[in-house]
Amino acid sequence: MSARHFLSLMDYSPQELGGLIRRAIELKDLRKRSIAHEPLQGRVLGMIFEKASTRTRLSFEAGMIQLGGQAIFLSPRDTQLGRGEPIGDTAIVMSSMLDAVMIRTFAHSNLTEFAAHSTVPVINGLSDDLHPCQLLADMQTFQEARGSIAGKTVAWIGDGNNMCNSYLEAAVQFDFQLRIACPEGYEPKAEFLALAGDRARIVRDPREAVAGAHLVSTDVWTSMGQEEESAKRLKLFAPYQVNRALLDAADPQVIFLHCLPAHRGEEISSDLLDDPRSLAWQQAENRLHAQKALLELLVAPGLQRA
Ligand code: CP
Ligand code: NVA
Repeated sequence: MSARHFLSLMDYSPQELGGLIRRAIELKDLRKRSIAHEPLQGRVLGMIFEKASTRTRLSFEAGMIQLGGQAIFLSPRDTQLGRGEPIGDTAIVMSSMLDAVMIRTFAHSNLTEFAAHSTVPVINGLSDDLHPCQLLADMQTFQEARGSIAGKTVAWIGDGNNMCNSYLEAAVQFDFQLRIACPEGYEPKAEFLALAGDRARIVRDPREAVAGAHLVSTDVWTSMGQEEESAKRLKLFAPYQVNRALLDAADPQVIFLHCLPAHRGEEISSDLLDDPRSLAWQQAENRLHAQKALLELLVAPGLQRA
């Protein structure tokens, strides 16, 4: 079908992604100055959440309202999806009534299948493989704090999960070096490592990963859907906690990002979000601005200079 989707950072060119970040910063400024900007009047976003969410739901819902449109929250429990209606049939029907659909799901193939049958843009609100909307906010936050990330070094500490996979895509699209410190057996998916090529390197020692790094990021050790592995992971990942001493080994201008929710005392020390090097709250807020830029591009494309 002809609609343009946002399932992965690789769906857009580096120039388009740069344009989205610039537009997010402009939209943030408009909001701070209380200037209304409502180009999506009459437009409706459907949001399917198969997993829990605070930030993603709120930022898409508030974002649509601020842009003059509306968002509808759909839980699979309350729709026919939860009773086995095929994804393709659901996509045909939903896209006949909506202007865009955001989906948070387990298997990434659920997204590609929905997108293949949808006549309107489909946005990845997190899958087991990728979390591209989060990376828009992360890249915006780095840009605001330190300027261009091109040529810089980023350290990913902990699980080679969906966020790590998206950092690998970001390394390609935003042109930075990524060092990943993870335990053996918890590497990111081979296809994303291969995509990043010589922009990414796996190390086992977190101190080696952060040496000279300009951005350090981590995420929970147990992602949604892995709850049964939690006890095993807690033990295995213990040497991968990000704390102030670890950040001291990075570049003096390092910033720390965490997509949240955080588990204090696990992947981060209990004091880390209070450290001045942490921009996690700004990063969370930027979900709103970055996704408004994305919605504008996908739902009212004429408005943006890409
Ligand atoms: N970072 C993030 O996606 O948060 P939520 O799970 O709260 O949406
Ligand atoms: N890796 C986490 C990210 C949550 C925003 C998860 O998938 O649960």
